[in-house]
Amino acid sequence: MSKVLVTGGSGYIGSHTAVDLIQNGHEVVTIDNHHNSYTAPIDYIEQITGQKLKHYKLDLCDLNATKVVFEEHNDIKGIIHFAALKAVGESTERPLLYFENNMKSLLNVMHCAQEFGVKNFIFSSSCTVYGQATDLPVTENTEMKEAESPYGRTKQLGEYMLKDLAQFSKFQVISLRYFNPAGAHNSGLLGEAPKQIALNLVPVITETAAGKRKECVVFGNDYDTRDGSCVRDYIHVEDLASAHTCAVDYLLEEKNADSYEVFNLGIGDGVTVLEAIKAFEEVSGIQLNYRIGPRRSGDVIAIYSNYERAKKYLGWKPKFGIKEIMQSAWHWENNRPF
Ligand code: WQD
Repeated sequence: MSKVLVTGGSGYIGSHTAVDLIQNGHEVVTIDNHHNSYTAPIDYIEQITGQKLKHYKLDLCDLNATKVVFEEHNDIKGIIHFAALKAVGESTERPLLYFENNMKSLLNVMHCAQEFGVKNFIFSSSCTVYGQATDLPVTENTEMKEAESPYGRTKQLGEYMLKDLAQFSKFQVISLRYFNPAGAHNSGLLGEAPKQIALNLVPVITETAAGKRKECVVFGNDYDTRDGSCVRDYIHVEDLASAHTCAVDYLLEEKNADSYEVFNLGIGDGVTVLEAIKAFEEVSGIQLNYRIGPRRSGDVIAIYSNYERAKKYLGWKPKFGIKEIMQSAWHWENNRPF
């Protein structure tokens, strides 16, 4: 049992991770400014786990406010830093907001970790750091290309800062590179619930099927892929959550060989947009109202992961595929409690 601080704890991946950590014997403290997340997930984390949760509503860009958490919890043994702005398109319209928010909040958490002696640090990174990879599947040694957006840049900068911190101080750091998180918790009480309009494919599909959105537009079917639409590696959010618990335990048990390590978190299965839509139609029995539209700028044609490192070193293995993702996402769309 160790106390773990989860920033962005009422967000999509943060809330699912908090549940998994608690169900695996850890105590969790969460921080969120609720800029893009509701407060309800905190209550549902407690309902699912039966454990009280200490939650702080604050902005990590406020160093003094952030320090209060560390002063009140001097037994934090690890930090998982999810909190960040993450809308790719918005980041191209407001790059300064993304650099200011994502880098300042990360720096403040790093300052506190150093000041209060919390050495274990897990960073929420993204496959977007690879840019348009030429060799697939991508491994952790695949070079980082030019970021496709300021959002992706903040993930690259975050990784470099933490790598240097780990090299020149006592930090033990893991960067987890997520592929495409999707799906919802099996309880039906947690799922993807951004305050801002959902732009990712899976919620666009389920909102369209539920009649909350007029149509789903497929952004291009003239790519050099098996059916012309883009390829992604969709990973169930519960698989993603369990990987974080494995990473925390890996650091707490001092199994890491290096002070800075990177792990891809995908399921190694490339699925096209049209195949994802077909999977939804099969599990829901609904014919989706979609049309082919123009390509979306910034989209990479194809990316999917090699997750052998996470399997070998973290002892992690994904349990779900695109059908379970669509089943849980569709159930969430129709029964979400908030
Ligand atoms: C997936 C595919 C679209 C919507 C982004 C970030 C990544 C991570 C996940 C944070 C693409 C197509 C989508 C639609 C479509 N975010 N699509 N119609 O862009 O792969 O990844 O979100 O960590 O870092 O880059 O996800 O779901 O937006 O798109 O055709 O209405 O679905 O073109 O091929 P993406 P996505």
